[in-house]
Amino acid sequence: MTSYKDLGLVNTKEMFAKAVKGGYAIPAYNFNNMEQMQAIIQACVETKSPVILQVSAGARQYANQTLLRYMAQGAVEYAKELGYNIPIALHLDHGADFEICKACVDSGFSSVMIDGSHHPYEKNIEITKKVVEYAHAHDVTVEGELGVLAGVEDDVVAEKSTYTKPEEVEDFVSKTGVDSLAISIGTSHGANKFKPEQCTRNAEGILIPPPLRFDILEEIEKRLPGFPIVLHGSSSVPQDLVKVINEHGGKMADAVGIPEEQLRKAAKSAVCKINIDSDGRIAMTAAVRKVFVDSPGEFDPRKFLGPARDSLKELYKLKNINVLGSANQA
Ligand code: G3H
Ligand code: 13P
Ligand code: ZN
Repeated sequence: MTSYKDLGLVNTKEMFAKAVKGGYAIPAYNFNNMEQMQAIIQACVETKSPVILQVSAGARQYANQTLLRYMAQGAVEYAKELGYNIPIALHLDHGADFEICKACVDSGFSSVMIDGSHHPYEKNIEITKKVVEYAHAHDVTVEGELGVLAGVEDDVVAEKSTYTKPEEVEDFVSKTGVDSLAISIGTSHGANKFKPEQCTRNAEGILIPPPLRFDILEEIEKRLPGFPIVLHGSSSVPQDLVKVINEHGGKMADAVGIPEEQLRKAAKSAVCKINIDSDGRIAMTAAVRKVFVDSPGEFDPRKFLGPARDSLKELYKLKNINVLGSANQA
């Protein structure tokens, strides 16, 4: 049993309380390798932002949970070395069952998500409550989910979305004791968040997606005043980066994300954690593809992973400053 407190990590309680009060959101960036971790920490130190390092089940399998935990511990020291001691939480993203949540609590995670959203309502309450009881006994915070996001992302699969029903949120939160609630208001995982036929096109032929359901968010806020709300699937799928990918041998067709102004609006509300993974993948892929095309003789991984890391860092700095509003809040 390793407590996150011995690793210098923090849970999300204080982070969220400050974010809700301050009208901004904490960035929750997924990582599964060293370059991503370095970019996230560099970006958050340079913008003085608190951060949630997120590990999915897929990341845990890919990189090994123990290694990831040591990397998060290293991240705390790395941030100090870079000159600023930002609050860092280590969070399990989309925990599917009690066992994975327990394994993460036991190995030093400071926060876990139990994603029971695919289960019937009563079953979701049952498994979420069980995770909350275990996690809270170790001062680990828990994120639950109500409503289903559309989209396909490795282990996170849902064919159809179901918006969160505002009339369920008070009952769910009081019966489970969760510390935060992920909701479904029109976002989805991955780089193709909407089908082209759901969008309109602007003069340049760029897809414009339908707006998020802010009416549902407002209704939830009314029912749970001051309670931390989480938005998954919040990548914006930057079209300039998609263009770089497609101009350098890639094939990302009809990729479309959530416009940044809508995320900024959400961050000013009860949304205090915004999950971003796909945009980071896109930034890294664009940088790597560019090196491969521009310098085909290159075979030192540092020569393409380095630019990928730099590009990721710049992207996340801009997110913290312009989208989440978390810059200078650490
Ligand atoms: O929510 C999904 C995240 O983007 C994690 O994706 O399961 O491919 O690691 P992954
Ligand atoms: P994106 O695929 O939009 O980056 O969402 C990531 C996410 O929700 C991780 O839980
Ligand atoms: Zn997610």
